[in-house]
This record gives sequence, structure tokens and C-alpha cells, in this order.
Amino acid sequence: MKQLLVSGGRRLHGEVHIQGAKNSVLPILAATVLHDGISVLEGCPHLSDVETAVQILHELGAKTSWQGHTLTVDAAGLSRCAIPEALMRQMRSSVIFLGALLARFGEAELFCPGGCELGPRPIDLHLRALGELGTEISVEGGAIRARAKKLRGAELTLDIPSVGATENAILAATAAEGVTVIRNAAREPEIVDLQRFLRSLGVRIRGGGSSSVTIEGLAALHEGHHRVMPDRIVAATYLAAGAACGGEIRLVGAEEKRLLTVLAPLRAAGCGIECDKEGITLRREAPLLAVPPIRTAVYPGFPTDAQAVMMAALLKSRGTTVFVENIFENRYRHVDELTRMGADIRVEGRVAVVYGVEKLCGADLRCTDLRGGAALAVAALSAEGESALHEIHHIERGYEDLAGDLNALGAAVRRVI
Ligand code: UD1
Repeated sequence: MKQLLVSGGRRLHGEVHIQGAKNSVLPILAATVLHDGISVLEGCPHLSDVETAVQILHELGAKTSWQGHTLTVDAAGLSRCAIPEALMRQMRSSVIFLGALLARFGEAELFCPGGCELGPRPIDLHLRALGELGTEISVEGGAIRARAKKLRGAELTLDIPSVGATENAILAATAAEGVTVIRNAAREPEIVDLQRFLRSLGVRIRGGGSSSVTIEGLAALHEGHHRVMPDRIVAATYLAAGAACGGEIRLVGAEEKRLLTVLAPLRAAGCGIECDKEGITLRREAPLLAVPPIRTAVYPGFPTDAQAVMMAALLKSRGTTVFVENIFENRYRHVDELTRMGADIRVEGRVAVVYGVEKLCGADLRCTDLRGGAALAVAALSAEGESALHEIHHIERGYEDLAGDLNALGAAVRRVI
């Protein structure tokens, strides 16, 4: 079985380039379905989730080709609007193909992506938004059948600013007659990136990144060209590794403006951080300090996807740090594994309290989910001795080459098969 073997206890020194963002490229790949022709995506990371999205595109009848990190999608020959259950189950964000297929064909057949390791993840908001645009939807035994004789622009207000529901509504609205306004839209940078890609296709959309997004439907589309934004969560992971281990690391491509709420606690913990147009440098010499409570929130708040890696960074800090997870119900599954290394963490409901310890010891560890797995890697880097991380397929959903990147930063990590 694949494993990551981490030899802990080294200070980090080095530089890496941050890969393209998983959460940006996945909805963009769904959006390539909108255009009856070519889309070119640069900076596309090689990830298992991206591979799943590519398989879905093939299933629908599209052609794709890779050249390095450039992925070209030709959706001219798209002939099917159904996605098999096996592919839907592999990745939750496959549900974004629903809005895209509705826009292209006026119908779609797929399956509920189901719950996942973070707790229940309903899609009620997605379905309601698509319904308000004129779609008839039936859900039976997990199968979703959606049909819209005519999509009609509408004013939608999301109950909560769901990233996925915002993306689905945007994609369907591109083929709606008239104007759609999505209020209480998610403001995540990945929505801005989707908007940039859609504009490159010719879609008339504005407001991405604010809580009100406007789409004028039925624009004539043409070939699209886009460079995927750098992955802010991968950047947060390596910043956490630098904070945990000490030393000096440089992350080329990391964007300060999209990481403000991650950089603030790192600074409070005693890290020196310098940001410029090309990237971010983190330096840590003095012992790490505990920080004021970290509460996850929708963007621009502290990202839930960075909660686990930040927790891993602070395990050996001086003092006590409180985490409050406000987005997902079950996002502390990494805690038991961290405890095996000697971490002192108490969880009650949405709150986790981290009491800093003197040292961590390498251990045999099981990745429980994508970001939880990355957190185990961060903790293992700052532990004494060797750790073996199992079930690393979780990590490979979102990190193109975690071992290679960490080694470029001066770590000793081996991926064994
Ligand atoms: C996206 C990200 C994920 C990130 C999350 C929150 C992708 C591929 N994934 O997931 O990495 O952790 O945003 O930043 O971009 N909800 C409902 N009903 C719905 C939809 C969502 O109740 O119909 C709830 C969810 O259960 C969750 C919250 O809303 O508690 C936020 O979910 P959402 O913003 O939709 O996250 P995703 O788009 O699934």
C-alpha cells in the first residue's frame, strides 16, 4: 500500500511553487461543458480529483489532452448528459456538473454525491437554486433527474453562502433567458476564478467575489483560455509546516490577499512573514506561541480547509489555542491520530482545545480525509523520529506532490508504493 514516510525533526529551508487550486479547477472543468468547443486551462494540477473530473468529461463525450500542466478540453462532441454513480461517488464536487449540463442540454442525470468524511453535506441549496431558474428536479434513491424546458433568469437568495450552490447556480444561469442575480453568494476566491474563466468564454457575469453575482444569460460563447489561480490551501499547508518546524521557506505564487486570516495567527504565533508580488516568505526562529481562538468561517474568514493544518502547526506551541469549527460538523477526525503522536487536544462538539506539548513522537498514522491527512504530514515533520502515513489517497486528491514539495523545503519525506 502507498505510504508517506516522514523523518521528523528537521528545520525547513527552501522554496516551492504553489500548484493550481483544486477547488478552482474542479468547477472550471465542469464549466468547460458550457461551450461547444475548446477550453484551455493552464496551471492545472495533476490530482486524482482532476482525473475524476476528466473521466466525467470523457463519459459525457468530451476529448481532453494534457501538455505539462496545460489541460485542453474539447467539448464540441458532447453527446451525453448522464454521469454514472461510481464517478459521482468518487468526488463530491462532481455535483457542479449538474448546473453545467442543464445549461448545455436542458437536462442532466446524475447521483447524489452522498455524505462524506466531514459529516453530512446536503445539496438542498443547489437544487432549490436550480429549481428557481426553472428546472424540474426529482430525487429518487439517490438518482437526480433534472430537466428544464427553458431556464429563466431569476433573483435567488441562498440561505447560506454555499460555495457549491453558488457555482451550480452560476453555471445554469449562463443559459437562462434574462438576468440572474444570486444574493448571499459565496465570496470565495475560487468563485472569482470561475468568473474569470467564464468571461474568457464570453459569459456576461459580474460581482464574483462579492455577495451578489449577476449573470446575463445566453451570451454567444467562444474558445476559452484561463490560468488557474494558485491553491491557497496548499500554501496554508506549507506555511503551517514552516511554522511547525522553524527555518525559512519561500512559497512562490502564494497570494497574501487571499491568505490574510491564515497569516494573522501565524504572525501571532511568532513567525516573521514577508509578502511581495511573487510570493510569501515565512521565517521562524523563536519558540512558537499559542494564539487567540481560531474560528472557521466563510471567506474572508479563516478557511475550514486550513483548520487541520493550523492545528498541526500549533501542537508544540507555548500555551493553549482554541479552535471553533463552524462550517462542517465532523472536521476533527485528524485529532485522534495527532494524539497518537503525543499531542494534547480535547474536542467537545465544534470546539477543540490544543494544549501545547514539549515534543511529538513519530507514529504509524492513518489519513482520515484530505486536509486531515495533510495535517498529519505537518505534525510528523515536527515530531521526533519516523512516521508512516497510510491511506494517502486522501492527500493525493488535493496535493500534486506533497513529498516532493516538502523535500524542496528541506524535509525528508519518502513516498513508497
Ligand atoms: C467547498 C470546497 C471545500 C470547502 C467548502 C467550505 C470545493 C470543491 N470544495 O465545498 O473544500 O471546505 O467549500 O469552504 O470547492 N450546505 C447545505 N446545503 C447545501 C450546500 C451546503 O446545508 O445545499 C452546507 C454544508 O453542509 C456546509 C456548508 O453549507 O456545512 C458549506 O458548504 P459549501 O460552501 O457548499 O461547501 P462545498 O461547496 O461543498
